[in-house]
Amino acid sequence: MIGRTTLMMIKPDAISKGYIGAILAKINDAGFKIVAMKYLKLTLKQAEEFYKVHSDKGFYNNLTQFMSSGPIVAAIIEKDNAVDDYRKLIGATDPGKADEGTVRKLYGASIENNAVHGSDSDENAIIESDFFFSKLERF
Ligand code: CMP
Repeated sequence: MIGRTTLMMIKPDAISKGYIGAILAKINDAGFKIVAMKYLKLTLKQAEEFYKVHSDKGFYNNLTQFMSSGPIVAAIIEKDNAVDDYRKLIGATDPGKADEGTVRKLYGASIENNAVHGSDSDENAIIESDFFFSKLERF
C-alpha cells in the first residue's frame, strides 16, 4: 500500500461551514477509496505534535490553535499516486492561488482557514496516518 495512500483532514473552518459532505463527495468522485476515517477534536498538544515539522515557522501557534479549535475529519484515502493526485484535487495551500474547481478554491477562505490538509510526501503520509489510526482501524 506504500505510495497508494495519503492522509487528509477536513479542518475546523470547513466543518463549521457544513462542507463535510461536499468535500467527501469530491474525494469519492476523484476515485479515492476510504481506508480509515474519524471525526474528532485535537487537543492543542496533539495539534502541536501533528504539525511539529512547522514548529520553527511564524504561523505555527496560529495553526495549532486553529486546528484544535473545533472538530476535524481525518481519513486515510487510497488510489494510485494518492499523495500527488489528492494535492491536485485540493489545490494550492492559499485558496486565493488555488485553481478553479479545487477543494480549497471552493471551500477555503485563507491560507490559515484553507478547508483541508493533505500529506506532502509518501513518507509523511505514513507518519501522519500512524498518528491517527491503528492497524485495526484500516480497511
Ligand atoms: P496544511 O496543508 O494543513 O499544512 C500546513 C498548514 O500551515 C497549511 O495547510 C496552512 O494552513 C498553514 N500555512 C502554511 N503556510 C502558511 C502561512 N504562510 N501563513 C499561515 N499559515 C500557513
